[in-house]
Amino acid sequence: MEITKNKVSGEPLTWQDIENMRYSWNVASESLRLSPPPQESFREITKDFTFVGYTIPNGWKALWTVHSTHKNPEYFLNPEAFDPSRLKGSGPPSYTFTPFGGGPRMCPGKEYARLAILVFLHSIVTKFKLEKASKWQNTNRSMSPASKATLEVCVRPHAK
Ligand code: HEM
Repeated sequence: MEITKNKVSGEPLTWQDIENMRYSWNVASESLRLSPPPQESFREITKDFTFVGYTIPNGWKALWTVHSTHKNPEYFLNPEAFDPSRLKGSGPPSYTFTPFGGGPRMCPGKEYARLAILVFLHSIVTKFKLEKASKWQNTNRSMSPASKATLEVCVRPHAK
């Protein structure tokens, strides 16, 4: 809404506007932390190593999970709480926040996804108002682990 205040009606978003949507991106990122779309990814072990007492041999595949990484209380205090302010500033340490993976095989679509999410959020917030349509329901239909409760909303255009 702050960004819209400095624009005339219908003026398109600029790259600078996207860069200024820091709070919105923290909100989207906190959603990706709590409910990451891909749950995990594989890595091939290239030399024997020991991790918390388990020896993992060269050539094996390891499955790292995004979900458990994001819920580590060592890096995310009160990890189940939705708190976009925890991603302020330089954000969490490397490889603790991994909705797009990490290293050389990190998601190449990350910046495109950020752009699409922010433009979508901006359009929803500026063009529509959201109203609660139902009580919280325990009807999660997602195939991936996600919040147990869902809340249906009505999307209505803002009155002109
Ligand atoms: C919110 C949206 C998205 C999320 C959360 C996401 C997440 C991920 C994750 C976790 C990986 C595995 C990375 C790793 O193993 O380190 C991945 C890989 C990949 N993603 Fe995405 N992604 C998103 C959107 C996109 C988009 C929009 C594209 C293409 C336009 C894309 C293309 C790819 C490709 C090609 C790979 C495989 C990369 C490789 O193995 O070298 N993703 N993504």
